[in-house]
Amino acid sequence: MFAKPWFGIAKQPPYFSALLFLVALAPLVGLPAVLWSDFTQGTRFLGSEPIKELEHGLGEWALRFLYGTLLITPLRDLTGWNWLAKHRRTLGLFAFAATAEHLLTWVFLDLQVVVDTLVGWDEVVADLVKRPYLTIGMVAFVLMIPLAVTSTKDAIRRMGKRWTRLHRLTYAIPVLGVIHYGMAQKKDIEEPLMYAAFLFGVLGWRWWIARRRAAEVAQATA
Ligand code: HEM
Repeated sequence: MFAKPWFGIAKQPPYFSALLFLVALAPLVGLPAVLWSDFTQGTRFLGSEPIKELEHGLGEWALRFLYGTLLITPLRDLTGWNWLAKHRRTLGLFAFAATAEHLLTWVFLDLQVVVDTLVGWDEVVADLVKRPYLTIGMVAFVLMIPLAVTSTKDAIRRMGKRWTRLHRLTYAIPVLGVIHYGMAQKKDIEEPLMYAAFLFGVLGWRWWIARRRAAEVAQATA
């Protein structure tokens, strides 16, 4: 069913996991570090609206990681690199972490909620209810929580078919994410449209592969 491994790479190259981890970690650590530098050293890496830039950057990275999780299966089929499969979990967890940072940036830096006195939480709730794009983003984030919690090997084993059903949410979450992005943009929606088109392409590709696979199984058992 799978292609012969491209370039004969049937096994994962050494250090691939560590490299992927470091590359994925870079924006999640780098963006807040750059903001820190702007605030404390007076640098202007993030321009005149550094908090907005951080929010934007983390939101885009959340989408990129989500897309990464969707791309693994078609890439594996295309290249025959079956070892890619286990990295879906890594990318999924990074998507969750990026979204959590994005959410925390909004709460603590944008709205400036003060933790110890709990000042500002009413504004968080009011905004979440009042602005549909925030409600949609929040729904996407809440749906990511059970996926992150059940991403362990033990959960996969314990939950069986229920795990597969639950993890179908990996299709709904990027769709909600991209709708949230489009609605958050006040004017220039070219970029969210490009993200939406790409998502449409990836989901279409996956649907086509699933259909082809089902037809092959039906033929083999006929
Ligand atoms: C899967 C979940 C999510 C994804 C993929 C995502 C992605 C994005 C992206 C790409 C942007 C950039 C828009 C821009 O500023 O140009 C954005 C903006 C934003 N997002 Fe999210 N987001 C998610 C969840 C959330 C959540 C849970 C919250 C908070 C409740 C949130 C709050 C915001 C805010 C406040 C903005 C800035 C809008 C503005 O420019 O005023 N997002 N999001």
